Amino acid sequence: MPLLGIDIGTTGTKTLLTSEAGQVLASATAEYPLSMPRPGWAEQEPAHWWEATVATVRQALDRAGVSGADILGVGLSGQMHGSVFLDGKGRVLRPAILWCDQRTAAECEWITERVGAQRVVELTSNPVLTGFSAPKIIWLRNFEPETYTQIRKVLLPKDYIRYRLTGAFATEVSDASGTSLFHVRERRWATELLDAIELPTDWLPECYESPIPSAHISAEAAAATGLRAGTPVVGGGGDQAAGAVGNGIVEPGIVSSTVGTSGVVFAHSDAPVVDPGLRVHTFCHAVPGAWHQMGVMLSAGGSLRWYRDVLAGQEREVAAALGVDPYELITREAAGAPPGSEGLVFLPYLTGERTPYPDPYARGVYFGLSLRHDRRYLARAVLEGVAYGLRDSFAILDEMRVPIRQVRASGGGARSTLWRQIQADVTGREHVTLNVDEGPAFGVALLAGVGTGVWSSVPEACRATIRVVDRCAPDEERRVLYDRYYSIYRGLYPTLKNLFREAAAVAGG
Ligand code: XUL
Repeated sequence: MPLLGIDIGTTGTKTLLTSEAGQVLASATAEYPLSMPRPGWAEQEPAHWWEATVATVRQALDRAGVSGADILGVGLSGQMHGSVFLDGKGRVLRPAILWCDQRTAAECEWITERVGAQRVVELTSNPVLTGFSAPKIIWLRNFEPETYTQIRKVLLPKDYIRYRLTGAFATEVSDASGTSLFHVRERRWATELLDAIELPTDWLPECYESPIPSAHISAEAAAATGLRAGTPVVGGGGDQAAGAVGNGIVEPGIVSSTVGTSGVVFAHSDAPVVDPGLRVHTFCHAVPGAWHQMGVMLSAGGSLRWYRDVLAGQEREVAAALGVDPYELITREAAGAPPGSEGLVFLPYLTGERTPYPDPYARGVYFGLSLRHDRRYLARAVLEGVAYGLRDSFAILDEMRVPIRQVRASGGGARSTLWRQIQADVTGREHVTLNVDEGPAFGVALLAGVGTGVWSSVPEACRATIRVVDRCAPDEERRVLYDRYYSIYRGLYPTLKNLFREAAAVAGG
C-alpha cells in the first residue's frame, strides 16, 4: 500500500506518493506567496498551506491512479521555526511568522537575560535566535497584546496542517527542537524555560518521536482530501531532519549539503554535542535516540531566486519563450565567467544570517564590482557566495571534530552541474548525488512507512531505498584559487558588521 509525504515549504507545498518499496509514484506541488510587510519581516497565511495541501494530495493521488483509501500512512514535514497562533476554537489569529523573519532581536535578548545565557544552552542546546519560535510569542505579547490574550495554541507550520488533517494538536522532536522551548538533550518541552518566561505549557502540542503515529485522518479532512478517515499520520519532521532522512543521513560520517531557499549542512550525531561557539544548531534527529548538528544559511537558493526575480528579467523572458527553466539559462550564463568571477565576491546575507554569524542585520553585498562585470559574473558570484557560506558550516563541523566521510548534495542547488561543481571546488570535498532527490516529502513518506511497519527502523528504510548514483570531485587548481577568494569572503563580514547595524537603524529594520 502506498505512503504519502507532505512538505509545507516556504515557496510551496509538495506532496509525494511512494510505493511500499519506496519508489516514487507521483508528486504534486502548489505555490503560495510570502509576505514581507516590513523590512526583515516574513509571514504567510496558514490557510494557503491548507489549500495547497488539499490540492496537492488530490493531484498526487490522481496522477498515481491511487485511491485515497489505499494509503497506508501519512508523514508531514515543513519549514521549521514558524509560529501559527490559534484561539480556543482552533481559528488562526494572525498570519504565521516564519523562520526567516528577523523582527525579534530584542525579544531574543530579553529571553536570554531572563533565563541566563548558559541556562538557555543547558536546556535547549542552542542560543535563542531571531528565527526561532519563542521570541515570536514574546514579540506578540509585547506588540499585539489583544491577539496574545486570545492565544490557546501555538503550532509549527506542518503541525497546523496535522491539526487540519486530524483535529489533533501534536508535533515531534525534530521540529520542536527549533522552538527555543524544547529540552533537546531530554527530548521533552523545557517547562523550566517556559515558566521562566511566563508562557503556558498547555499552549504547546503533544510531542512524539518522528516515526510514531500521532493521530488519524478525520472524517472532515477525508472529505476534503480524498484520503480515508482513520489513516495514521506519523510525527514526521522539520524539513531539515526530514530531508536528511530522505538523503540517508542516518549514521555518523554521512553529511548532506542542501540548497533550498536556505542552505544547510547536516550531520547525524549519536549524542547532543553543542558547538562551543553556538554557530551551528544541535537538534533532535527524526531518528529516535539520535541528534544532529546543522549549519543554516538563510538565503542560499533564496539568493539565486532574488537574482532571477530582480536582475534576470531578460533570462526569464527568453526562458518563457523557449519553454525552459530560467535557472538553466542563468547557470549557463554563469558558466561563461571565470572561477572567482574576477574578484567579484557576493555575501548571501539577504535576510540576515544564522551560520556562522547569527545576525539579523547582516545584508547581501556585491564586493569588487568593476566595469568588466556583466551578468555572467553577477550570476556566478551568487553561486560562489553561497558555496563560500556552505564552506563556513563545513569548517565549523571540522572544528567540532564531526566526522565527514561523504557529502551528499541535494535540493535545487544540487540539480545544476555547475553549482555542484562550484560547491565541490570551494569546499574541497567530493559531493555525491543520490537516486532520489525529492527532499523532505520523501523523507516523511519513509517515516510513515516505519510508523506503519513497512520497515523496522529509519536506517533500514534508508538502506532499502537510497543509493549514490553520481560523484563530483573537486578540481585541485580551482580549489586553490577558491581558497584565496574564500579568505577575502571571510574578511568581509567582520569589516561590515557595524555598518550593517547602522544601515538597519537608518532604514528602520
Ligand atoms: C532550518 C531553517 C530552514 C527552514 C526552511 O533551521 O530555518 O531550513 O526550515 O526551510
